[in-house]
Amino acid sequence: MPSSVAIDSLLDLATRVSRRLTGRHGPDYRELLFQDLRAKLAGKRPLRILEIGPRDGEDTKRLLTLNPDVLVLVDLPDKEARVRQWLAELAAPNIELTIANIMYDEECADLEPFDVVWCTGVLYHNPEQLRMVKRLFDFTRRGGVLVIESATARRRHLRDENCVEIWFGVPKATHSAHHVSVNVTHLPSKRAILSWLGMVGFEDICASDCLHRVLRKLGRDRAAFIAQRPQHDVKAAYYAIAGLDYEIGKAR
Ligand SMILES: C[S@@+](CC[C@H](N)C(=O)[O-])C[C@H]1O[C@@H](n2cnc3c(N)ncnc32)[C@H](O)[C@@H]1O
Repeated sequence: MPSSVAIDSLLDLATRVSRRLTGRHGPDYRELLFQDLRAKLAGKRPLRILEIGPRDGEDTKRLLTLNPDVLVLVDLPDKEARVRQWLAELAAPNIELTIANIMYDEECADLEPFDVVWCTGVLYHNPEQLRMVKRLFDFTRRGGVLVIESATARRRHLRDENCVEIWFGVPKATHSAHHVSVNVTHLPSKRAILSWLGMVGFEDICASDCLHRVLRKLGRDRAAFIAQRPQHDVKAAYYAIAGLDYEIGKAR
């Protein structure tokens, strides 16, 4: 009997051929994810939005259509020139750009919480991932929404486990074979991201099917979630289980 991966590959091939024959492009998963966010907001206007790692500005344009009072963009110094280029063309007065690392730089330490935090394609570029998810929680205001998307574990026997694949010291050829860029060292599985979202205190965590709708392989290699910070924070699971009061992400 053919494996589910083999069946998915055949279905993806059929999808590709049909798109080529009809001249129709497949959908853009970032657009589909944005539509999921719109549905989640159900017409409510987010006053403050944070977008981490905008890079090409495609999601920035979408987020602007939500008409926020302020849209804060944070990206790394090596992306500054690229971001400033499209930002000048957008000329949106409600955008504030911070060039910084969201994990380590002082500029991000005192950001006021946001109604929406948009963080796609970023988590797997950062090795301190549970800490990052906790940081995203802190950036989200109570009742606010996080949109998170990431590449996920690639090895066939690991991808469905609750685990993180460490890619440090892996030969370049292996990176290429699995379509993982050489600067990526940690690939969390879908279940790991889901666990971390719950551990830091998010609720109503929904997996988006935006990737699968483009191609089944994309749905296997990446994951996207929309989650909500509760109106009242519940003590996060890990230390609370032992009745202790330490906070994940605040280790020295
Ligand atoms: C692969 S790109 C993703 C771009 C876009 N958001 C998308 O979904 O296609 C990763 C982006 O995140 C930025 N980035 C990664 N880690 C970051 C961090 N710790 N702080 C700020 N930006 C970060 C990178 O500079 C880059 O612009």
